[in-house]
This record gives sequence, C-alpha cells and structure tokens, in this order.
Amino acid sequence: PTIYLRDYTPPAWLVEEVQLTFRLAPETTRVLSRIRFTPNPEATDRTFVLDGEGLTLISARIDGTEVDPTLTEAGLTCDVPDTAFVWEAEVEIAPASNTALEGLYMSNGMYSTQCEAQGFRKITYYPDRPDVMAPFSVRIESDLPVLLSNGNRVASGEGFAEWHDPWPKPAYLFALVAGELVNLPGSFTTRSGREVELNVWVRPGDEDKCDFAMEALKKSMTWDEKVYGREYDLDIFNIVAVDDFNMGAMENKGLNIFNSSAVLANARTATDANFERIEAIIAHEYFHNWTGNRITCRDWFQLCLKEGLTVFRDAQFTADMRSEPVKRISDVLDLRGRQFREDGGPLAHPVRPESFKEINNFYTATVYEKGAEVIGMLKRLVGDEAYAKALDLYFDRHDGQACTIEDWLRVFEDTTGRDLTQFKRWYSQAGTPRVVMTDDWADGTYTVTLKQSLPDTPGQTGKQPQVIPFAIGLLDPSGQEVVPTTLLELTETEQSFTFAGLADRPIPSPLRGFSAPVVLDRQTDAEERAFLLAHDTDPFNKWEAGRQLAKTALIDMIDGGQAPDDRYLDAVRRVVTDESLDPAFRSLCLGLPSEDDLAQSFADSGRTPDPQAIWDGREAMRGALAEVLSGDLGPLYRAHLVTEPYAPSAEQAGKRSLTNILLSLLTRRDGGAAAQGQFADADNLTQQIGALSALLTNGLGSLELASFAEQWSHERLVMDKWFMIQVAHARPADAARVADALTQRPDFAMTNPNRFRSVFGALAMNQAGFHHASGDGYRLMADWLIRLDPVNPQTTARMCSAFQTWRRYDADRQGMIREQLERIAALPGLSRDTAEMVGRILEG
Ligand code: ARG
Ligand code: ZN
Repeated sequence: PTIYLRDYTPPAWLVEEVQLTFRLAPETTRVLSRIRFTPNPEATDRTFVLDGEGLTLISARIDGTEVDPTLTEAGLTCDVPDTAFVWEAEVEIAPASNTALEGLYMSNGMYSTQCEAQGFRKITYYPDRPDVMAPFSVRIESDLPVLLSNGNRVASGEGFAEWHDPWPKPAYLFALVAGELVNLPGSFTTRSGREVELNVWVRPGDEDKCDFAMEALKKSMTWDEKVYGREYDLDIFNIVAVDDFNMGAMENKGLNIFNSSAVLANARTATDANFERIEAIIAHEYFHNWTGNRITCRDWFQLCLKEGLTVFRDAQFTADMRSEPVKRISDVLDLRGRQFREDGGPLAHPVRPESFKEINNFYTATVYEKGAEVIGMLKRLVGDEAYAKALDLYFDRHDGQACTIEDWLRVFEDTTGRDLTQFKRWYSQAGTPRVVMTDDWADGTYTVTLKQSLPDTPGQTGKQPQVIPFAIGLLDPSGQEVVPTTLLELTETEQSFTFAGLADRPIPSPLRGFSAPVVLDRQTDAEERAFLLAHDTDPFNKWEAGRQLAKTALIDMIDGGQAPDDRYLDAVRRVVTDESLDPAFRSLCLGLPSEDDLAQSFADSGRTPDPQAIWDGREAMRGALAEVLSGDLGPLYRAHLVTEPYAPSAEQAGKRSLTNILLSLLTRRDGGAAAQGQFADADNLTQQIGALSALLTNGLGSLELASFAEQWSHERLVMDKWFMIQVAHARPADAARVADALTQRPDFAMTNPNRFRSVFGALAMNQAGFHHASGDGYRLMADWLIRLDPVNPQTTARMCSAFQTWRRYDADRQGMIREQLERIAALPGLSRDTAEMVGRILEG
C-alpha cells in the first residue's frame, strides 16, 4: 500500500515505558516485552494496533491476563481497556537467518540491530512510528562477553547485562549488540562536567584501526558544544563496527552502529578519502544525538528534518576541521553527481516526499543532500546570527518532541519575523531549478536579470517560483573585485538587480559558493571563464570556472570532433603550477567532469549521449593534459610527494591527492615507471592504491594487482577496494566481463553489502562499461539484483538506481534496459523495496 503524508493521524496509544528482555540464540531468540500504554489525549480513536513482521508470537498478556490477539499481515490488533494498561508479549525470532540486515541479525558471530526506519517491528510487536517515544530498559541474556544496548549500563553479571535509557525515544533508535568484541576505551568531560565513558567496539584483529574514530568522536563532541551549545547527555557513548551493514551508520541513542568501512582506519588499510569520510560520519551520527534523537521526526515524511540538518552540521564540522572551499567543492560535485541526477529522472521527489511504499527507498540524495542545501540557503538568507538564535529556540522549544518541517520553519519565522511560506516550496517541489542569467551595461549601471523555472517531475507540474538566494560578486577587467559577494534574493519568476556607479563593465562571478542548488544557465565564453579561473576571489567559483571550461571543451570534442581547447589546457596549467594555491584545490581543478555529468549535459540540451564517445573524449582530454603538462608532471610530482610519516591530515591528503592525479597523467608518458615506484615504496594505502589505479587506467598493473591481493587477502575493507578498482578502471568493452569474473571468486559474497557494492556500484559508475552497446552490463546487473533481492531487499532496491537515467539513451539501449527492468518487475515474490523502485523507474 502507498502511505500518504496527508493521512497522518496521531497515535491512539502512547507508551510510558518499555522493558525488553532478550534471550539470545541464533535461530531461537526470545524477546519479552513489557510495555505500559496510555491513551493519547490528542487522539479520538482507541483502536489498538501493533506493528510486527516475521514474529512468532508465543504469548501475550494485558494487565497480567492472557489474551488472544488477532494476527495480521503487518502486526496484530487486540481488544484493550480504555485506560492505561500493561502489555506483555513473548515472541521468537531467528537472527541468524536474517540476511536482510534489518531488525536483529547475526553477522560473523555477533548480534546487532538496525531499526531505522521500520526494523523494530521485526524484533517485537510495537507501535513502530517515531512519534511514539518512551524510555527503554533492556536486559540481555547471553554467554557472549559483550552485551550492549542504549543508555547507561545499570547491571551486569554472568550471562547478562541490563541497560536503561532515560531519554524517551522512538523505537527506530533502539539498538542491541552482543558478541566477542574488543574495545578501544576513551573518555570525555562535557563542559558542564559530565564524565562520559567512550568506547569503539570491534572484532578482535581490528584493534589497530580504532584510534582515528575515537579522536573524531572527541572532536565532534567538542565542536557541538562550541558551535551549537549541545552537550552529551548519558554516562557512556558506544560505537560498534559491523561488517554486514546496509548503510553507512546509525545514530541509535548512546550506541551508534557503523558499517565497518565507516569507522575502521589506519594508514595501511584506509585511504585519505576513507579518513575524511569516517571523520564526517562519526560526527554525523554523534550530531544526531540532538538533531534526530532529542528532537526527532513526527513521521517518516519529515526525514529531512533530522537528515538535512545533520548533514548540514557535519559539513560545517568538516569545513572547520579541514578546508572550507575543498569541502564545498566536493559537496557540490556529489550533489550534482547524485542529487541532480535523481532530480532529473524518474525517481525525482521533493525533499519532503508526500507518499511512499517503502520508506527505506527515501534515504536519498534529495532528502539528505538537497535537504542540507535547503538549510544552507536558509542560513544565508537570515544570516549567521539569526540562524544561531533560531537553532537555540528549536532546541529549547522542541526538546523531547517529534517534529515537522512546519515546526522547524516556525522557529525561523519567530526569531526573524520573516514569512517563510514561499521558502517552504523547497520542501514540496521536486526538481532542480534552472536560473537563466543575462546582464546589461549602460551609463555606469550593471544590470543582472535572473529568470527561474522548475521542470516537471513525476506527479508534479505547474510549479511556483522559489526563493533563490543568489550570491554574486563583480570584478573589473583588471581582475580587481569591485563588488564583494552580495546576496540577491530571487523570488519572482523573473527579476532584475542593478549595481550602479561602476567605472567599467564588470565581469560577474555568479552563484558564488553555489549559494543555491540550481543549474545556472548563462551564455558566456571561454575567455570569461579563464578570467574567473585566474582572478576570482571566491574559491568555489574559481574552481567552477575551470570546470565549465573543461565541460565545454569536452563537449566540443565529443560532439563536434574538435581538438582539445587550448584555453582550457593553458588555464589548467597555470592553476596546477601555481604554488600559491592549495594542492587539494589544484587537484580538484585537474579532475574532469564525470562521464555521467557529461551525459546529463547532453541530455539537458536535448541530445542523446553516446557513452563510448564520452569515454573516448575524456581519454583524449587526459592525453592532451598529459602532453601540455609534460614538462611539469615529473617536477610537480616530486615536489609534492609526501615522504614524511603518514598522517591523515587535510594538508598531507591534499598533496597525495595532487600527486596521485599527476601520477596517472605521468603514467601515460613513462610506461608506468613512476607508478611502479610509488606502488613499491608506499607505506600507506592512499599512495598504494593511487599507484595501482594509475597503472590500471593505463592498461598496466597486472603484477601489482596480484601482489596487492596477496598482501591484503585478510583485510576485507582493503579487498573491497581491490574488487572495486578493477571494475571502475576496466575498459568499456571489458567492464561486465571483469565484474562477472570477480563474482566467481570464493571471496565474493553477496550477503556482504560492501562487497556487493564494490563490484556492482563500480559497474554502475563505469558509465561506458555499464552502458556498453552489447547490453552485457545491463544483463549482469539485473541477474545479480534478481539473486540479491530475496536475500537483501534494501541493498537491491538501492542498486536499482543504476538504471534511473535510462531515458537519456538511444532506443536500443532503452529497449535493453526496459527488458531487464521488466524481467525484475515480473519476479514472483519480489520485495516491496525493489518493486517500488523498478516501478518508479519504469513509469517515471
Ligand atoms: N539515520 C542513518 C543516518 O543517516 C541512516 C539510516 C538509513 N536507514 C535506512 N533505512 N536506509 O545516519
Ligand atoms: Zn543521518
């Protein structure tokens, strides 16, 4: 069934307290619940319905008397008193057979849980909705040495442990972990003097990969106190690493559970990118303690309330810990790569969706990343001070509540007096706005005209203009900034803004800092872009100018058969050799727009992208870059090669990022000598993988690939990368075959989402390979989605998004993709998750 936002009704019954007892056994875990229900004064209906899925009900009692509830597909109903009562139930579940990794499951001999969004109903009967909040007491009975749950530990002994979480919480924040785990201990004193015990729990053997996560946690705790005035509120904070996990991590109260790839790291087994991601995810989950846990969501349509805000907060944190411009550029790359792609296709949906069949399908780039952009826009519009005030009011007013986007916007209205009615359209209208910019110069006055439009998306037409904060700066022809960053508020469909008193016609630097998640459309030329790349004071726009130059040059090569544009090549050479610029920034400027980005540009201008031609074009451009930079590559590489002991600092990472990209160009010219050298000398994974990738991209590296596998066969996370890079760097005609061969290996296991994604996520990313005219990529993907669906619907559904851009392509490809999608859709017993995704992709 489809669930609609407009159908929300308050729960009939509230929960005053929950007591759970777990008697753990792999196939026969018993869960005893004792729940005190009380009528909700806000509701009129008193029907008693509990959610439950895949549970074997052993017994149920109300106020101590045995009852016989009516079991349904989705749970149970029962006659109940019309005043407060105590519900007790005993159910049996089988964690060892739970391969869906939702609810309570076993992975490598350890028990763990994943309840968001609706996994708790696979543990026991309960009103599994976020607006029912209660304090939980949990008793775990098991011989396993480590038994964890939410809140504070209140008792433990031979074969049991008891936990109490005093903070009322929805069931989706429940967690339990049991296993033979070891911990890295730590401690933190909050600014009001609370002593907090910290732990990072891992499987024996992974002890040497915990330090970084622990440090990141402490930094996050300090940062949230300093910047948002938020303190931690329990005596203990546990982090656990789990190998089989559907997503990155989960913010369960006091017991954050992480995909091991999002927590384990040391120099040998993790790359700089891993370290940065781990720091961000640790922060993200920790920040959820206030934005998500203390203040949660009324219903799942409000998911962006916690996710948009928490992504925004973790991005602020990363910008503070590392480089603000580099973080902004990376986030925009990611936004365009995943969210614009989603917004422009059949899966487009508003930041606050209005309906769903399976909520797990809405943990999307739109809800998370566009949700965070919306908060960034709000902050820009009201200013930093007003933002801080509004947040203080939000925490004050809503602590302990389950809230909506209306509540969120009201704190801004109440603190600033602004009417946010129009701004709210960002939450309800799907699609990426286009802003066409034109300009004019007369009598010392410069006029900017902005015109916005919002394309139709599935189920949404005739959209209203949004509030678009448009940051702009102006430079004079000598490159001096004559108007610093100024915020234009575009609220009409079309609006003009003037700048008077200028001596010369200025050169505009529009949409600075990417102040709104829009596509900017402006007729401009390579000269102006090269000028901005050289002179802009806004680092984002400086990079953006180079990116636009690259894109135009590439499209001209692919489409018009033109030679690589010298203006682009010269401009890049100037940036890359400019020692006053941050190496991380120079590295970003050397990157080319992705194949998918280029394909989208073709589609946006009404042309059919040819994946092979795009691949060829990027190859030719790399060749041209290598040639233009031929004299610089060696010296630059040597000058920036980090030889000091490894540190996962932003500073070293920036240099490694630059030298790795230089190395891949250098490899085109030196037959692999430098890359082989780096591979042999590397004492860290960033340089080792960087060298291996440089070799593979250039059709070399088979010896290195083999020695890498031998060296790392016992490190799952490192081997994930080994699987991944082979598919990622395979030539278009080979990609499906390489992926297929990898799935035949004994160490390929589809029950491990990381391993599955390392092959099939990489195949989807290898655009020319996935979309190869043979159709082999499509077939292989569908074969494996069909195999995975009965095992793990969530990961299957997520991977279906590989097909979401299908309507961009030619009739042959569309036909082949349709055939695969229909083959999946026709499967008997297909999961609700996958059925919804395939249905939306086919129909949209
Ligand atoms: N709340 C978690 C986070 O953002 C992610 C949970 C994802 N859940 C899901 N069903 N996909 O940190
Ligand atoms: Zn989150």
